[in-house]
Amino acid sequence: QDTSYKKLIQLHEETADLFHHILLNTKAGEDALTYLENRGLTKELIATFKIGFAPRERNVLHQFAVAKEFEQDILLESGLFVQRDSGELLDRFYDRIMFPIRNQQGKTVAFSGRIFNQEQYPEAPKYLNSPETSIFNKRKVLFNLDLARASIRREKEVILFEGFMDVIASWQAGVQNGVASMGTSLTNEQIHMLSRLTNKVLISYDGDNAGIEATKRAIDILGTNPKFELSIVSLPDGLDPDDFIKKLGVDAYKELLAHGRDTLFSFKMRYFRKGKQLQNESERIAYIETILQELLTLSSAVERDVYLKQLAIEFDISVDTLKEQYQSLLANAK
Ligand code: UTP
Ligand code: MN
Ligand code: MN
Ligand code: MN
Ligand code: MN
Repeated sequence: QDTSYKKLIQLHEETADLFHHILLNTKAGEDALTYLENRGLTKELIATFKIGFAPRERNVLHQFAVAKEFEQDILLESGLFVQRDSGELLDRFYDRIMFPIRNQQGKTVAFSGRIFNQEQYPEAPKYLNSPETSIFNKRKVLFNLDLARASIRREKEVILFEGFMDVIASWQAGVQNGVASMGTSLTNEQIHMLSRLTNKVLISYDGDNAGIEATKRAIDILGTNPKFELSIVSLPDGLDPDDFIKKLGVDAYKELLAHGRDTLFSFKMRYFRKGKQLQNESERIAYIETILQELLTLSSAVERDVYLKQLAIEFDISVDTLKEQYQSLLANAK
């Protein structure tokens, strides 16, 4: 068990080195490197994250691993290969840009491979991840937690992103306390890992529908946990953090993180009005009642008052009427 753990880690580490080398130094890696450079990644950044390239032929890693005398059962256990009916092993990842996924100790335990020539593989997923293995449990990994740890401690806050590229672009912008849950909703294990470093969490998911839904889920999980202090930045126009930096620049991004934060409640107000026709009377009334219902969850009377006033102004209803309605909801809730 112990030796197989070591062998699996060693295989992953050597694989990361191999793919990184192929990306930077070979003809096979040229297009992938150009793609990354066009996305604004510097050589230094590519080195920091040891980004690589898995070539198109599906035997490069296999031959490498056999030459390094890794045993067949380790190869099978690693998730890095798929087995044909004939028994032959093929590289799982091919023609993809490879992001090593490191555990908390900084060891590579899995990969995610991004397609960059989608037109050649119309059916393939954009990112392909390693399967679960004895060294990779997706629920227990946060991308970049090992590198971000120092900055999380310094800033006393962690930023949660959706994707690898958001973590990486932020890192380049000097925001180095970011981690990503890799497209799945936050697990209890991940929350526990974070709670050992900080109690402040900033959610910075994509500004599209999926991101807004994911933010709502994260709030439902974390916002009810008294251990955490949550804030949210809502990105405009469907942008994700990486897009935002590219489009509006590093300074605007830092400004957004520092001063563009939403409270949980104002996020929820925005969330609940999504897709609603508020000029329609019945939808408007339903919306106001939803918000009043949500106000019941706020423990601060001051905060409640702020939002009641905001609602009153926005919908031109007297604060007294809203308060009355709130009181009756409160009475019903008891
Ligand atoms: P996104 O679709 O927002 O991708 O998915 P992205 O991070 O912006 O990637 P780029 O900028 O197009 O390269 C967010 C995250 O969800 C996971 C990945 O971890 C991705 O970073 N994901 C997404 C997958 O695992 N598989 C997919 O096919 C797509
Ligand atoms: Mn090395
Ligand atoms: Mn997204
Ligand atoms: Mn995205
Ligand atoms: Mn993106």
